[in-house]
Amino acid sequence: MSIAEKVAAAISKNSEATGPLLFLLSFSLFSFLSSSKRKWQANVIKGSSTSTSTSTSTGKSTKIASPTLNFDISDEVEIKDEQLAFFVAWTGADNASEPAKAANRKHIIDSWLSVKSKFHTYRCIQSLSYLSPRSQRLEAYQLILDVLKKGEEAASSLKIADIGCCIGQDIRQLILHGVKPSCITAIDIHSGYWEAGLTLFKDDVCAEEVEGKGRLSKVRKCFFDMSLPMHAKGTIESTDFEAIESFDFVILQAVLHTQSLPSQTNTLKRIFDLLKSGKGVLLGATGGSEIATEWALTPDGKNSRYLHSIESLTTLLTSIGFKHISIKDKTGEWKDAMRGAAGGGGFGGGFGAGGDEGQKRLLLEFSAKA
Ligand SMILES: C[S@@+](CC[C@H](N)C(=O)[O-])C[C@H]1O[C@@H](n2cnc3c(N)ncnc32)[C@H](O)[C@@H]1O
Repeated sequence: MSIAEKVAAAISKNSEATGPLLFLLSFSLFSFLSSSKRKWQANVIKGSSTSTSTSTSTGKSTKIASPTLNFDISDEVEIKDEQLAFFVAWTGADNASEPAKAANRKHIIDSWLSVKSKFHTYRCIQSLSYLSPRSQRLEAYQLILDVLKKGEEAASSLKIADIGCCIGQDIRQLILHGVKPSCITAIDIHSGYWEAGLTLFKDDVCAEEVEGKGRLSKVRKCFFDMSLPMHAKGTIESTDFEAIESFDFVILQAVLHTQSLPSQTNTLKRIFDLLKSGKGVLLGATGGSEIATEWALTPDGKNSRYLHSIESLTTLLTSIGFKHISIKDKTGEWKDAMRGAAGGGGFGGGFGAGGDEGQKRLLLEFSAKA
């Protein structure tokens, strides 16, 4: 059984981490992982936004109509002390005194207003959930972290991608958790959020003051539409993408519920193909619904987003070829993510907005083996 199969099986059985971890440390099993390179076609889409958000920096509360969602995107926000922790851990910023905290808050809010004025304001952007990386909450996270960190030689050849990485907080969290930057690939539909993250997390200005200068330089970055069918006619070959072999692990966090059903299907098909020789593991979470349903409009305003039920997501993953599928409703455990309050998770899109209000919304955590 491959490492990935063991991770997937461990998760789907909801078994305790200790058993599978003993297996995971046996890195001799990595030898089967193919290193065959694949060429990919990619459409590089930069910086477009359909949001009508016109944030001001006056601090005045404004409620601006969004073409896609009707949650409040006011420019007022409170950043609690605990929300500064990850920012401080990454930047090494002084946070010891009240003036230092105030300066950090101002920097974060200035960056937030800038992002909102330029790009689509996902709920997770509005709620600043990127100050508290969420993928570490996934059951599979600790398992793959152990695999990626231990076993030196084998671990350095493993590859993980964060698809829909946005600001890049989960990538920074992986690095802080000890994963080598050269093992990590950041993927998003356009580079705007990532570039905003470089300013927010001071990678552009204060890297010299922080131990581990240039921590992101070895992270591979690819900006293209994951929902384009493989080798679609007219897509642009990305030079970055040529260098990508494939991945052992893919994180897909808070992306599916921002897409239409056809886009989700294409995205998952591409991920299936990206997962190394059919032996890699997909892990992530998405907003869902007790009964699968169309929901608010996609950011381009052209289609309806789709919220899966456990059954419909299982069917979709199975039809693509995924195995060892585990999907759990984590609504209870991820309460803050459902609320989308600042400091919580803000799961990407104002649940209840733009859809059938009567249905119970879920937060689905999933993992599957290709
Ligand atoms: C709601 S945000 C989630 C961000 C982050 N993963 C998190 O958990 O906070 C969705 C992200 O997925 C990206 N995204 C949406 N559709 C995409 C696609 N077709 N290809 C690549 N990225 C996409 C968006 O640009 C955005 O950064």
